[in-house]
Amino acid sequence: MNIVFLRNAPTWMAMIGRMNPSCDTTDKPVSVMFGDTEFRRLLEHRNRPWAGYRKVRKGVIRRLRRHMQELGCSTVEQYLVQLARQPETKAAHERCLRVTISRFFRDRHLWQALRERSLPDLVERFPPPVRIWSAGCANGEEPYSLAMLWNELRYPQTLDLLATDAGKACLERARTGAYSRSSLKEVTDEMRERYFDSAKGGRRFFIRHHRIPPIRWRQHDLLDPLPDDGPFHMILLRNNLLTYYQGPDLQVAFARVVAALSPGGWLATGAHERLPRSGVNLIVDKDCPCVYRLGAIDPRIDSGASG
Ligand SMILES: C[S@@+](CC[C@H](N)C(=O)[O-])C[C@H]1O[C@@H](n2cnc3c(N)ncnc32)[C@H](O)[C@@H]1O
Repeated sequence: MNIVFLRNAPTWMAMIGRMNPSCDTTDKPVSVMFGDTEFRRLLEHRNRPWAGYRKVRKGVIRRLRRHMQELGCSTVEQYLVQLARQPETKAAHERCLRVTISRFFRDRHLWQALRERSLPDLVERFPPPVRIWSAGCANGEEPYSLAMLWNELRYPQTLDLLATDAGKACLERARTGAYSRSSLKEVTDEMRERYFDSAKGGRRFFIRHHRIPPIRWRQHDLLDPLPDDGPFHMILLRNNLLTYYQGPDLQVAFARVVAALSPGGWLATGAHERLPRSGVNLIVDKDCPCVYRLGAIDPRIDSGASG
């Protein structure tokens, strides 16, 4: 058994050992017991924060229940043992835990801060090309929003825009650039007409790729070492690492992300996210609490962001 995968393994293994952890491998459909209580136990075990998942748990629980069913596991204990015994099932389990909700120009005040302060600042201070990384980009709504904004600002500099996500299927959808109307609810009519073709009587929208700077799409897990394209002048790290991870995984990955930022570069987070404690001098924007500029590294600061 792969005990490394099971955090707090001794306690769990003792508990599981008393519980008949074997899954049903016959073709009969098993009845799965998996609601909020069991989900919380699973998150605790995987060292993921309940607070991050609470609002979006319905879909995640549905996916996990389906995965348990496929594996013939009726209890969370059986499921954990199965994941440990068959590491090849872990990728599917991780996919169940990923939340891909996004939309164009999500958090209007953030896009205003990028338009009015961050982008003009980095265009003025850094030599081209301007390098920006959209980390955990879901189905592409975020990097496409940035590419559209860049086009609107008509900067003569070249934009080198990297968009990554752990999910392969997400990236395939992102490359295609097809969206439903609900993803565009924060896009003005004028922008919609300029950057999208519509189909199916206005229910589907397709990005006009020729109207925006190109985007480099790449599969990358934020818990792995970073793409070596950095340093970046701006990193969008929104509604992924800071919401769905905690503890050492979060600390290590966050430190790596910030290390990929140029001094003086900009970091954008989700509207409700807080930075983990770190010794990094991230100075919060005066009007937008989810935009930071990386100041000089100050060795006297050993905890907390300055913002
Ligand atoms: C809720 S979406 C956020 C999308 C976009 N950044 C936004 O704010 O609208 C979270 C995305 O992060 C991705 N993600 C979650 N964990 C990840 C990880 N460890 N590495 C890379 N991407 C991850 C998910 O696949 C998902 O597409």
